[in-house]
Amino acid sequence: MGTWERGVGRRDVTESDRGDGVRMRGAVGAIATGGGSGDGDARSAGVTDRPADGPERWGTSPEPVVAVVGVHRTFDAEVAPVRALRGTSLTVWPGEFVAVTGPSGSGKSTLLNIIAGLERADDGSVVVAGQALGELSETRLARLRRRHVGMVFQFFHLLESMTAADNVVLAARLAGLGRRAAVRRAQDLLDVLGLLERAEALPATLSGGQRQRLAIARALAGSPTLLLADEPTGALDSAGAAEVLDLFTRLHARGQTIVMVTHDAAVAAGAQRIVAMRDGQIESPSGLEDLP
Ligand SMILES: Nc1ncnc2c1ncn2[C@@H]1O[C@H](COP(=O)(O)OP(=O)(O)O)[C@@H](O)[C@H]1O
Ligand SMILES: [Mg+2]
Repeated sequence: MGTWERGVGRRDVTESDRGDGVRMRGAVGAIATGGGSGDGDARSAGVTDRPADGPERWGTSPEPVVAVVGVHRTFDAEVAPVRALRGTSLTVWPGEFVAVTGPSGSGKSTLLNIIAGLERADDGSVVVAGQALGELSETRLARLRRRHVGMVFQFFHLLESMTAADNVVLAARLAGLGRRAAVRRAQDLLDVLGLLERAEALPATLSGGQRQRLAIARALAGSPTLLLADEPTGALDSAGAAEVLDLFTRLHARGQTIVMVTHDAAVAAGAQRIVAMRDGQIESPSGLEDLP
């Protein structure tokens, strides 16, 4: 469908897509160009500038970015099978910033990996950006990931031999941008994320907070519908964690949909909505009750 490709080369700010109903203006493009005002296209497609506060944002056609319903996932293990997810359900609406929290082993990473299409559910249904993941081939799944999902991990996973800028350029290229567009995109992102003066630095010379911000820039290179983060502050000191949370808050304010996994209640408190997991199930509001 080329949603993302169509957004490149014109102002990402107004990017929207009636086709899959969940595509919205590129959050970072909006920041980079100084705000998301005056986007007539987006407005006519039922998108508004307001920070997300629920499905009403989508006017007559609310459609969640993520709809996980009754998902099970069991891992084989030496002693006994581990039931990591036991009928988990979670709905995430466009523009939401959701923290998934819970003790270690409660299934948070498994849930996130399933939403990302990195792992498959044994049972239940997972719809991301309007597509039922269970029905997709590995190739189509990879394509959906490239187009709609940006992912951030606890330990950054940066390419250490490349400069900060090249880490982002490469991601933009992989997302389908041409060389020039990718360089421009990387510059915009590094600027927005406060890393422009470190563009030529190697990742090893950056602080923890800067490294994670760079990883976030890379995750955003393809203007993903959904930003997923698994314990993004887990390897950072409190200053670095604050940097990352502040960045997520800014991205959210600009319309980026974010799901952040954290076992740290203080970090989770920075999100717009908190869902708690225990023993492979969601304990507190799953968002399902909001379904139209
Ligand atoms: N690939 C795997 N193989 C076997 N067991 C796994 C695998 N991934 C996760 N688990 C188990 O599933 C449970 C949930 O893990 P996980 O989703 O990583 O939890 P969390 O992220 O909340 O700490 C844990 O008991 C974990 O050991
Ligand atoms: Mg985990």
